[in-house]
Order: sequence, then C-alpha cells, then structure tokens
Amino acid sequence: MQFSTKPLSADRLKAGCAIVPVIVGEPLSGDAQTLDQAQGGRLSAVIARGDLQKKPGSTLMVHLEGALQRVLLVSLGSATEVAEKSFRDASAAAWRALANAAAEDVVSFLHEAAVAQRSLDWKLQVQVLSGRDAAYRFEAMKSRKESTPKRPRQVVFAVPRAQQAAAAVSVSRAQALANGMDFTRDLGNLPPNVCTPTYLADQAKKLAREFGLKLEVLDTKQMQALKMGALLAVAQGSEQPPKMIVLQYNGASSRQQPVALVGKGITFDTGGISIKPAAGMDEMKFDMCGAASVLGTLRAVAEMKLKINVIGVVPACENMPSGRATRPGDIVTSMSGQTVEILNTDAEGRLILCDALTYVERFKPRTVIDIATLTGACVVALGHHHSGLFTPQDALAAELIDAGRDSSDTCWRMPLDDVYQDALKSRFADFANVGGRDGGAITAACFLARFTKKYDWAHLDIAGTAWKSGAAKGASARPVPLLTRFLISRAEG
Ligand code: BES
Ligand code: MN
Ligand code: ZN
Repeated sequence: MQFSTKPLSADRLKAGCAIVPVIVGEPLSGDAQTLDQAQGGRLSAVIARGDLQKKPGSTLMVHLEGALQRVLLVSLGSATEVAEKSFRDASAAAWRALANAAAEDVVSFLHEAAVAQRSLDWKLQVQVLSGRDAAYRFEAMKSRKESTPKRPRQVVFAVPRAQQAAAAVSVSRAQALANGMDFTRDLGNLPPNVCTPTYLADQAKKLAREFGLKLEVLDTKQMQALKMGALLAVAQGSEQPPKMIVLQYNGASSRQQPVALVGKGITFDTGGISIKPAAGMDEMKFDMCGAASVLGTLRAVAEMKLKINVIGVVPACENMPSGRATRPGDIVTSMSGQTVEILNTDAEGRLILCDALTYVERFKPRTVIDIATLTGACVVALGHHHSGLFTPQDALAAELIDAGRDSSDTCWRMPLDDVYQDALKSRFADFANVGGRDGGAITAACFLARFTKKYDWAHLDIAGTAWKSGAAKGASARPVPLLTRFLISRAEG
C-alpha cells in the first residue's frame, strides 16, 4: 500500500474509488458536495434513501460509470463534531470494505471531516496506520501464501495546495511509523525456535546496515567481564547464548544527551524452574515484544531522520529450566553490585533489565525508558487498553501520557512510591526479585527503581497491550506509536 498527497479537483476524478465522509442527516459539504454535483446528485440521493447506517464506520459502495468507478460512502455518525473514535472506526471500516473490492487506486477525502481537537496530521496518520494494519499479513511460516491481492495499491489523500507540504511530511512519517510497526510485529509473531537472541541480534545488524546505525552486540564473555550476574543467571538454563544489543541512532549533535530505550528481550519465557502452567504458554514467545518495540521505534526514527540521539538497548535471552538453570533461593550479584535473592525464577524480566539499566549509565542518558511485558498483574490492573506507566518524575509522566493520547497508544500512570519497597525484603540478600501477589506490577517497577537513580526514568509494562490473544492472536506493535510520538516531540520541542 503506497500513500501520497495531491491537490485534486473533486469534479474531475479518475480513480478506482473515492472515499467520502458522511455525517448522516447533514448535507454533503466541501469536496464531497462537489463530487456529488459532478455525479448529478447521485450520492445525496443514495444517502437520502437511507441505506447508509448512522453508526460510525458503516459503509456503502456506490458504483458509477465513467472515470471515477466507485464511491465508498463512510458514516462518521450523526453528530457534526466527529469523535476521535468515530474517525478511527470509519477509517478502519473503509479499508475493510476496500479489501473486498477490485479498486487498485483510491482517493480519500475522509480527512475533510472535522474531528474534535484533531489536526490534518492526525487524520492522515490514522488513515495510513489503519490501512497498513488492514494490509498486514504474517505468512513467513506458511507453506502456502494467501492468494488474495492486497488492495488498494495506491492511495492518494486529496489535500488543498496550501497544505501540501505539511501533509506530505505527515504521510511520509506515518509510513515510516508503519514500517517500524511491521518490523516490531514480525519479530513478535515469529516462533521462539526462530526468533532467538541470536536472531534478534542479526535483525539489529540488518537494521544498522540499512539505516547507518552504530551497533554493538555483547556476548556471554563480555557480560561476564561487566559482571552482569542477574542477566547471566536468567540465561544460564538455556542452550541459546544471551545477547545484549546496543544500537545508536545519532540524529543530533554529539553534545546532546541521548534518550535510551531499554526493551525486555526474553525470546521465550517458560518460567524456568518456577515453571509456568502449560495452558497458553505458547504466548510467552511474545515476551520479547519490549525488545521488538525498541528496534521498531529506532527503525521509524531513523527513517524519519529525526534530529535527536537515541540509544536502543536490548538484553536478550531465553528463560528455560535445565540442570544448569537458576534455582529459587539462588543469590546473584547484579552489575550494580546489589545482591538479589531469586525467590521465583519466573520473575526474570526484571533480572535482565536491571543489568541493562545499569549498563546504560555509560551513555549519560537524559532520559531512560524501559519497555517490558513484565507482569501478569499489570494485565489484571489495567486490562488490554492502556500500558502501565511508572515513573518518579511528574514531567516525564505527562510527556508520555500526552504522546500516548496523541498516537492512540495510551498508557496509565501507576504508583511507585517507597511504601511498596518493603515487599522486596530478603532475609539473605540486599533484596528479593519478587514481592507478594498483591500489587505485583508495582513491586516489579519498585525493583527496577533500585537501578535507575542516576537518570530520569520511566517504565512501561506492556504485558496487556503488546499482543492480542484468541482468534486474532498476534503482536500489536504497541507501544511503538507512543514512543515515536514521544521522540518526535523531544526532537521538535
Ligand atoms: N513474562 C511474564 C509476564 C506476563 C505474564 C506477561 C502473562 C503477559 C502475560 C513475566 O516474566 C512473569 O512471569 N511474571 C510473573 C511475575 C511473578 C512471578 C512475580 C507473573 O506476572 O506472574
Ligand atoms: Mn516470567
Ligand atoms: Zn517474562
């Protein structure tokens, strides 16, 4: 699917289909009205018959004779102030309807509808992302690929001349974001026997080559030299060697302190000796979605050529039970020097993250954000709508909440105060790797907080948002839109 923008006259269109927004009960206006007049009032007559339902996202295909072959009427509801969700539903519905039509080239006017508080940039991004989402397929592991073609191939957004330059930037950025998201999704969806720590490192290598990023991959020996005892304790039960991927994108002066993104890269989480129940364990292949979101965000940022410095750090390993695996009760020394009693080997994410969070200190980051499918407790707390946000800094919280809202990839702030730290008390080490069951997402964040005193830091628990279960099982690419929006704001103030 290719997207572009053009100034077009609605009365002289040549296309397989035009997407036209309709507020049911209101007369057509703007280009929709011009188009209707050019068709002798055909569209308004069809709408007046009442076949287009009021519900936002209802669609009606009208077939025409001539250079414009079809018009897809899309309902945005009946209120003149269109709600954000109505616009997103309408956009998704339009692509669904077009997937079943034979139109190859499409012109969209959908963004001519006024959406409360939302700019043209936002409306173009919604259309590009929902179009790419509808076109996404994961068929790498199927012996027979689906034969139905992806349609439409070409999409032109009709935009007045005065707004061309801005709209072209919006569309090319939205496509860069979609490319990053597809990369994240593919990595998440790959099976754990393919997507190993070594595979992630190889993909990072490809990314670095394509976009001119600086890359370093630390192996077991280097981790030992750095005394990453917590990360190595998780990795030691697996046949797969661990990797620490360090990618640098330098879009600004080297004097500017970078933002560091740290992503949990457990390529499969069995729980280790504290083994998980069998039901649904396959979904623990998604336990590297934090890592994948870091790589996808770097891809998006690099393609956009943002004027900012970003470091992506991905600790990657597998959490397996074996004769060499860590036992409950083992005590390890983290890179920070703090000792940890591993009471539950299934709380492994925080163990690999804590050493990565100490490692990033060397880059003198201005801000560090870690992204992790960290706790089932976060899913209990927030469900699948918002990612959990934990940070001691109010200003950083506000930035991330805004970025989430603007990109429709929301997060919700959770508490992180010291009253929860007591849960991590250990009889034998500095602290334990688990608290009790209660407040599990918070005590996990409290564990990480003990390693992040030297910089501004936020933690995103994406256990409930990184993938979908059930019939539509698959990675969501969240929170790549949130992170990318955050970095655009940081780059452009
Ligand atoms: N990767 C899991 C968290 C998870 C579980 C994410 C289910 C999404 C769905 C993590 O490593 C884990 O196992 N966490 C434990 C922590 C517990 C042992 C304190 C959990 O949530 O049960
Ligand atoms: Mn686990
Ligand atoms: Zn895990």
